[in-house]
Amino acid sequence: MTRVIREIREVREYVEMLKRNRFSLGFVPTMGALHDGHCSLMRQSFRENDRTAVSIYVNPLQFLPGEDFEKYPRQFECDLARCEEEKVDIVFAPTVAAMQPLGRSTVVKVEGVSHEYEGRVRPGHFDGVATVVSSLFNVVQPTRAYFGQKDYQQTVVLRRMVRDLHVPVDLVICPIVRDPDGLAMSSRNVYLSADDRAEALRLARAIVAGERAVQSGETSGDRLRAILRDAMSSPRADVTIDYADVVHPDTLVPIQSIESRAVLIAVLRVGRVRLLDNAIVAAPGAPSGGA
Ligand code: PAF
Repeated sequence: MTRVIREIREVREYVEMLKRNRFSLGFVPTMGALHDGHCSLMRQSFRENDRTAVSIYVNPLQFLPGEDFEKYPRQFECDLARCEEEKVDIVFAPTVAAMQPLGRSTVVKVEGVSHEYEGRVRPGHFDGVATVVSSLFNVVQPTRAYFGQKDYQQTVVLRRMVRDLHVPVDLVICPIVRDPDGLAMSSRNVYLSADDRAEALRLARAIVAGERAVQSGETSGDRLRAILRDAMSSPRADVTIDYADVVHPDTLVPIQSIESRAVLIAVLRVGRVRLLDNAIVAAPGAPSGGA
């Protein structure tokens, strides 16, 4: 049975017990609104660790003014049922007051890789993510932590934070989980109407078109960017491309010509909803590999 913990003190007692028994702990940080993508992270943690903890915390620090913090889907009972199905040991669901009892003076800022793409469209977003994830790591002290590749830039930012701060945790990046129509799963997909969803599929198709072009030998960054943009373009005025790029997997610097591995990253705005997708690609003959 999954135990729900709301207090940091209680998590610490649990972690002490695990340490005494030399049990490993897998950790899946989430903001709730759990879907099959989150469940795939829980399953991987379950396979690789003695115990699994999931946090459910809608982190105010990573929302910009005017974004959907208040409206972000909150469905705790339903999320808890999914965690129980996945045999999660602990759900840590703190209040904002528990996480930030004194407000927040300390910010974890990961320079460089936070600046472009999501960082440019949502300034300060990654400071909020890095700050809360480092707080959660300090509380939960996991052996391994699981993140989805869908938020590719987030994985790069967090990897860099863990390396720079010598955080004793292994980050495990898990593949994107897609609906049968190809759309990458996201808690915000619930905002899409049926018509919006049809538009949103342009993004998944663009990523597939880019992957196929690389498999067929295309290595030019500019030609790949054009392929992504063509496939994402819509006659609908409220469907717009935030970015479509080909970047280095670790630095996120745009690539002129793919020599080994690269990442296709793209964001399509459909009405009020921003949809993210990406794929790691390898030039023919270069070693492939996940995130
Ligand atoms: O990816 C998310 O859901 C959030 O950014 C995270 C990592 C749980 C931090 O709030």
